[in-house]
Amino acid sequence: MAGDEVSRDEPGPEVHVLAPDRFAGLAAARVAELVTESIATRGSCRLALSGGSTPAPVYRALGRRDDVDWGAVEVFWSDERFVSPDDPESNFRLADESLLEAVRPRRVEPMPVELGTGEAASAYETALGDEPLDVVLLGLGADGHTASLFPGSPALDETDALVAVTRAPTPPRVRLTLTLRALNEARVVLFLVTGAAKADRVAETLGGAAAGPRLPAARVRPAAGRLVWLVDEAASSRIRRTESA
Ligand code: 6PG
Repeated sequence: MAGDEVSRDEPGPEVHVLAPDRFAGLAAARVAELVTESIATRGSCRLALSGGSTPAPVYRALGRRDDVDWGAVEVFWSDERFVSPDDPESNFRLADESLLEAVRPRRVEPMPVELGTGEAASAYETALGDEPLDVVLLGLGADGHTASLFPGSPALDETDALVAVTRAPTPPRVRLTLTLRALNEARVVLFLVTGAAKADRVAETLGGAAAGPRLPAARVRPAAGRLVWLVDEAASSRIRRTESA
């Protein structure tokens, strides 16, 4: 993977720092590589897409590639807002417009927010089934949230359910999200983070801040899976780099 490797004192996630003008293309290449590895190993890839604004150019670059066997890919979401699918705030709409109009996955499984907060979580658990997700894409909020797991959210303490309803501090407030159990059972989790506004949280999350409750994003540590962070130079500007030997 091109980019400036960030060496670390203790074993931790794989972190790649990418030039901002190459971030979307290189991130798309890494997603394609991980999806293809899953297909080669298991015959299919269960891919969960992140929401927010960061992934859109990555999804567009991914949709332009011709090296992904989308007929073997099942698309899920890491989280969704309780809005209609044509709402500008919808994570389904984001993916539909930037990726799914260009590719034809074997299965597309949006989070069923139309069922309402009483039924959506259990319905998505059923849709997910018993298999872990193969590749999960995540972003990082300026408060250290990821998916729709916000600091202080009771869903952070959920150890059984794979999907939960949460409340965001900003509109749209009511969200559906994969829980830490679902994220940490994934085979690969890939964070996509850009921009100086995230630099402090990236450093805090990757640096393993000793004091205080760990940020939600810092609690994403796949038990048997791989954790990969792709960050641009601005978002990585506060990461402590150990001097290269
Ligand atoms: C969402 C996302 C959320 C997002 C972060 C970063 O539904 O909003 O799942 O976790 O990844 O808030 O958002 P940006 O990419 O817009 O900075």
